[in-house]
Amino acid sequence: MLTANELRKKYLAFFLSKGHAEIQSASLVPENDPTVLFTTAGMHPLVPYLLGEPHPMGKRLVDYQRCIRTGDIDDVGDDTHLTFFTMLGNWSLGDYFKKDSIEWSFEFLTSSEWLNIPLDKLSITVFEGDANTPFDQESYDHWIGLGVAPGRIAKLGLEDNWWPAGGKHTGPQGPDTEIFYWVGEGEPVGNKGTHSKEWMEIWNNVFMQFSKGADGALSALEHQNVDTGMGLERTIVALQGRSNVYETELFTGILKKLEELSSFEYAASAEIKKSMRVIADHLRAASIMFMDGVEPSNKDQGYVLRRLIRRAIRHSKKIGIESQKLVAPIVNEVVSSLGESYPMLVEKQDKIVAGLLAEAQKFEKTLAQGLREFSKFWEKNKSVSGEDAFNLYQSYGFPLEVTHELAHEQGLEVDREAFAAEFKKHQDLSRQGAEKKFAGGLADHSVETTKLHTATHLLHQALRAVLGDHVEQKGSNITAERLRFDFSHDKKMTPDEIKQVEDIVNEQIKRDLKVHSEQLTVEEAKTRGAIGLFEDKYAQIGGKINVYFMGDFSKEICGGPHVEHTGQLGGIKIQKEEASSAGVRRIKAILG
Ligand code: ALA
Repeated sequence: MLTANELRKKYLAFFLSKGHAEIQSASLVPENDPTVLFTTAGMHPLVPYLLGEPHPMGKRLVDYQRCIRTGDIDDVGDDTHLTFFTMLGNWSLGDYFKKDSIEWSFEFLTSSEWLNIPLDKLSITVFEGDANTPFDQESYDHWIGLGVAPGRIAKLGLEDNWWPAGGKHTGPQGPDTEIFYWVGEGEPVGNKGTHSKEWMEIWNNVFMQFSKGADGALSALEHQNVDTGMGLERTIVALQGRSNVYETELFTGILKKLEELSSFEYAASAEIKKSMRVIADHLRAASIMFMDGVEPSNKDQGYVLRRLIRRAIRHSKKIGIESQKLVAPIVNEVVSSLGESYPMLVEKQDKIVAGLLAEAQKFEKTLAQGLREFSKFWEKNKSVSGEDAFNLYQSYGFPLEVTHELAHEQGLEVDREAFAAEFKKHQDLSRQGAEKKFAGGLADHSVETTKLHTATHLLHQALRAVLGDHVEQKGSNITAERLRFDFSHDKKMTPDEIKQVEDIVNEQIKRDLKVHSEQLTVEEAKTRGAIGLFEDKYAQIGGKINVYFMGDFSKEICGGPHVEHTGQLGGIKIQKEEASSAGVRRIKAILG
């Protein structure tokens, strides 16, 4: 039976045999990309290249990318939603297009040398067309030419056959053709259009030929690209003939350990099954997040991590396991199933355990505190309103289900509707936050954003000149309106220092330095004094890294894009200098 590791290796070998170069998985936390909290697809780290930047490894790439999707966090525990997953992907950057992409997908899936899947178990979708883009006849014809029956091909719209789905996002995009595997009972019937639940998506081939600007207009990209994504876990479920991912070797070790620790059987009841699945999924995702340097906090990635840990701990209490007993053995199982793909997990195992445990124990205290608050509400009012329940949830992370349980013991119900109304308010706020993130930065490579990106390099170097070499980039977030730059420095900057930094940047702008990039080995980059993150995703590409030079002033590791001459920037104005976190300062600046 094919294991996940074997499938991953076959996939890489197949595309290597078709002239692709293997690139490394980037971090889960997109570096220099303020548009998304997490890498949610293999294409995220490749956006600059899909938009036309030359990739040091060439035009045909293949990889496996670690991804997090949190949209469905409350659905985790069912058969299909995973928080952490691995996406296999192959890319053409202005090289092959629909024909080769479809033929190779077909060959990999059906050839007896590769996965040997009977054709009848597969079905296809293609873009049916809309007011802006016609029906994808070409893809349809290629599939028919390969022997796919017309009845196995569904023609669907923007929600199904466009990526990113729905066609509402900015940045590189296009119609896609998706491949589904029959997971229904008995003989395969129909297609995704006629039997939606029985066909499970395993692979998506996106034909990225457009870019959507902030004004919503689609423009043709200079190059036609292919971006594909095959969900490793899902495909394994299909190929092993399992009903869900928890039955595969990726999870059985973890579940067995949970049975041992709790003395419950996984299959004992639907509730126990759900709790074990949630713990397994969440601790697996949390381990990988720690590996990539995420720390629990109250915002952004850190908040997602915190929620995952809290939920895992809550469920582990349900099955009677204290965090002290839970964390180390489960992380150990996660490392055994994922360590081959992500060796950094093995290196950081102790740190992961320590980080998870600290947060879990903090939450156990929080729960105790929440219980006390609950008693206060209770004594005062002999009831718990929706607002009380929501406040417990928001201030103490006290899960609604616990509030329900407690109220229930007192013979009362919490007003679920009132809670739902409060909750929705909160969700709308955080969704607005998330959408803002998506609309913000990298997806928009507008002239203004690009200028501010170049200005950020000048600022970085100027800060080092004025404050010292301890200044290192800790984060950056650039929109068309302003730049935001976080850097290591443990004191508030004086007005004089701010002025000096501004003057230096403006002087470099006046000098109209030429901007160019070179691909160097790490050694060369170090010798030439480049600054920036040597472990940056761009640094991991085949031993070469991209370094941007701005005249004799700045040398920094970066994937771009940048303007060609600093004179194009006009002038910089630092608007704010403030603390960002311990030992980290934040500058906001504009060009004008
Ligand atoms: N980017 C495409 C996806 O995630 C391949 O489905």
